[in-house]
Amino acid sequence: MRLFVALTLPDQLRSRLSGLCNGLPGARWVAPENLHLTLRFIGEVDGRDAEDIDAALCGIHSPRFPLALAGVGEFGDERRLRSVWVGVEPSEMLERLQAKVEQAVQRAGQPPEKRKFKPHVTLARFKSHPGGRLESYFAERSLFRSEPFDVSEFTLYSSFLAHEGAIYSPEAAYPLG
Ligand code: 2AM
Repeated sequence: MRLFVALTLPDQLRSRLSGLCNGLPGARWVAPENLHLTLRFIGEVDGRDAEDIDAALCGIHSPRFPLALAGVGEFGDERRLRSVWVGVEPSEMLERLQAKVEQAVQRAGQPPEKRKFKPHVTLARFKSHPGGRLESYFAERSLFRSEPFDVSEFTLYSSFLAHEGAIYSPEAAYPLG
């Protein structure tokens, strides 16, 4: 199974975010129910590894904390735009939780993530570049900021790549605080 660890976003916030999901030609918008904040992508593992990962994540103790989303950005370069996303207000608590998740996943035998953690909520992935429309999209949405929400758990998701797009299923949730 293909696994990742993420924060689930409140319904109200996801509907607000889905209001940002328009106005870019060539975008494959993330479905509102799939909007999430990844803490750690794990990838394909077998059942035994999944059990080890679950056990390690169960051992995480961390307080709950408030988190707000803010700003918009992109991954990719001039030749190829990969994604457009909403960013996160700097949060020491989020960084600490992410570091604990990373340690736990490594303790469970997974190789370390080499890329630096850049917290974001992907809104769209791209097959082709939307051209000049991207600039006005960013200009109109750069001041986006959400109300802080309470991060009270994190979730281990499995991801199934179907024809219609990815289907994410919560496999286990780990309470904080
Ligand atoms: P993304 O939102 O930046 O695309 C489920 O696929 C989640 O895991 C997504 O949030 C995605 O990040 C992330 N993800 C998918 N493939 C990945 C990879 N190879 N490396 C890191 N993160 C990945």
